[in-house]
Amino acid sequence: MEAGMVTPAPALVRFSGIQKTYDGEFLVVKNLDLDIRRGEFITLLGPSGSGKTTTLMMLAGFEVPTHGEIYLADRPIKNVPPHKRDIGMVFQNYALFPHLTIAENIAFPLSVRNTNKAETQERVKAALRMIKMETLAQRRPGQLSGGQQQRVALARALVFNPQLVLMDEPLGALDKRLREQMQLEIKQLHETMGITVVYVTHDQSEALTMSDRIAVFNDGIVQQIDRPDALYEHPVNSFVAHFIGENNVLAGTVETIEKEYCRVALAGGGVVTARAINVSGAGASTSLSVRPERIAIVSDRTSSEGPNRLPAKVQNTIYLGDHALAVLDVAGNREFMVKLQPGARDNLRPGESVVVTFRPEDCLALDPV
Ligand SMILES: Nc1ncnc2c1ncn2[C@@H]1O[C@H](COP(=O)(O)OP(=O)(O)OP(=O)(O)O)[C@@H](O)[C@H]1O
Ligand SMILES: [Mg+2]
Repeated sequence: MEAGMVTPAPALVRFSGIQKTYDGEFLVVKNLDLDIRRGEFITLLGPSGSGKTTTLMMLAGFEVPTHGEIYLADRPIKNVPPHKRDIGMVFQNYALFPHLTIAENIAFPLSVRNTNKAETQERVKAALRMIKMETLAQRRPGQLSGGQQQRVALARALVFNPQLVLMDEPLGALDKRLREQMQLEIKQLHETMGITVVYVTHDQSEALTMSDRIAVFNDGIVQQIDRPDALYEHPVNSFVAHFIGENNVLAGTVETIEKEYCRVALAGGGVVTARAINVSGAGASTSLSVRPERIAIVSDRTSSEGPNRLPAKVQNTIYLGDHALAVLDVAGNREFMVKLQPGARDNLRPGESVVVTFRPEDCLALDPV
């Protein structure tokens, strides 16, 4: 091997040609091939009903794939029952045992595995320390806040040192502030313990914050698997562009394609140059995607040099503390958003005519929506 070459970590989990139907007809997971590396934090992200939980349940062993095979550390797990898969799990509704104390709840996976008393005590103590709840060991779940209960569920999933931890919307029941705090705590635990985490959420900002890689699901199909920044900068289709981050859409028709770029005639008037990402050829319909922070607003009296200048009418401006948004009417899109410095808002009046401009490399020609 060449010096300095990085070998990718081997896959801990491999989904190979996985399909799942519940009713024998409709495939809720259509053809899943997915490698999850050892030590990785991977998130399954997608709208409601896209197959995320089903995928997790097949990995956990509570659902059986209709087709295909799942491998854990290179071994097919079809015939391995859930409790023998060495997988920890955390779900949205905590599912703590109400009649057991916190310490007893955390000890539960150890008792199932016949761990001796001394080791159980030691591990429960360490787990309580990890979630900073040593003093609450003798309480019952009903005497804890939502965030505390979620921490206990986390400790219970990790106490037996599983090689893999699955989390399905674990923070869904918490308020925004607590959710953001727990996101960082889970991320830190992942980093210090070196465990592999498969995390499910439909919240894109949660996925961006926590994940090494994100698999974007829609209709039982993984649309794209990539690092958070790559998903944001290089979405492969309109679904991913719209699901990750804010996005302006302009409908148009491809006039010409030359290498990586194309000329697009907008349905609402005007012609722009865009990166040809997911367009079939000249004459094809396309949806252009431009991020709000990649657009500049200039006066309509400045010189008309440069590509991608479109006349715009200011509809409104919105103050958001650390930034502001201008809402404009651009080529028929009446909700065209441009991100501004908070102060820049004062220079824009509703009804005013301006020009928006953006670089061809920041404008993606994707499949029509
Ligand atoms: N036990 C089941 N029996 C029949 N159909 C099911 C069952 N579980 C899920 N489904 C269907 O399978 C599809 C995928 O469901 P799944 O729970 O995997 O989605 P999800 O991505 O986790 O959605 P959400 O974000 O709402 O949790 C949905 O159409 C759902 O109705
Ligand atoms: Mg689900």
